[in-house]
Amino acid sequence: MLDWRGMELGRFARHRRLRSSEAMRRLVRETELSPAHLVYPLFIEAGLRGRSPIPSMPGQFRFGLDAVGEEARELERLGIGGVMLFGLPAAKDEQGSGAWAADGVVQQAIGRIKDAAPGLVVMGDVCLCEYTSHGHCGPLAPDGSVDNDAALPLLAETAVSLANAGCDVIAPSDMMDGRVLAIRNALDAAGHVSVPILSYAAKFASGFYGPFRDAADSAPAFGDRRGYQMDPANGRMALGEVLADLEQGADMVMVKPALPYLDVVRAVREVTNVPVAAYNVSGEYSMVMAAVERGWLDEARVIDETLTSILRAGADIIITYHARQWASRR
Ligand code: PBG
Repeated sequence: MLDWRGMELGRFARHRRLRSSEAMRRLVRETELSPAHLVYPLFIEAGLRGRSPIPSMPGQFRFGLDAVGEEARELERLGIGGVMLFGLPAAKDEQGSGAWAADGVVQQAIGRIKDAAPGLVVMGDVCLCEYTSHGHCGPLAPDGSVDNDAALPLLAETAVSLANAGCDVIAPSDMMDGRVLAIRNALDAAGHVSVPILSYAAKFASGFYGPFRDAADSAPAFGDRRGYQMDPANGRMALGEVLADLEQGADMVMVKPALPYLDVVRAVREVTNVPVAAYNVSGEYSMVMAAVERGWLDEARVIDETLTSILRAGADIIITYHARQWASRR
């Protein structure tokens, strides 16, 4: 049969047939966001009462220990999967000893969150940069570089102290080589064989961490993190890091940041069957929110599209500052 121009009918596909109504679009939708797969980062500040806004991240707050339970209860009510904890200690030192203090700010927060919201998965970010006076992710060698092997026992001790406090998932973000193995061994030796490790395996030296360093007060006092975090140009190398962390015992792996690295998320998805997390970082958040504040972007649509894209690329878990707003709008 021919059409009015003499063209054979059916020679071109009518893609629009499956977009004709919301009911039809919903029927054929391939990826569906759910709050269960979202993890909300929480900043806990020692000595703070209540919560205080983070200027570079509109809509985000630092929480005091007195306020974190109530926040956790709300996140649980919204169906959010978990929280990722970051601490702002009362004092910092060369080694970062606040990270593994039994009464450290994150250790205390874990107890409060567990009491208030037992249904949340509590993840502890393991790194020393929020706790060291110089702001680097491990202790310094005499030449001023970060001493990889000296950092390992400190990271392991931090992981054990978080697990002792009741942390459900240990998430090392420091990018020291060998830390997953060191942490796994230390957790097992301390009786925490059942506590999983979510490794920030492919973590790039990114300009998009800027607002976080304000939020967590963790900017390096000199230099940058390019000596330990990955070069943004290297996708293949990222897969090597992921496989190495899995060999050392990581239970889940993360790609960070998310949006500029969706190719890496997809590639990681294809080389492993473990859950893949993507961290939609502070700069990605603030970029969107700054445009929203100016009326240049529609907040709900853009956040939905952002999170859906990360899921579509292959992430199972998304760590995002949008989690609370997204879940409360549903
Ligand atoms: C700690 C850490 C950082 C982030 C998560 N864990 C900062 C950094 O590496 O400089 C960044 C998160 C974000 O930007 O939202 N090392």
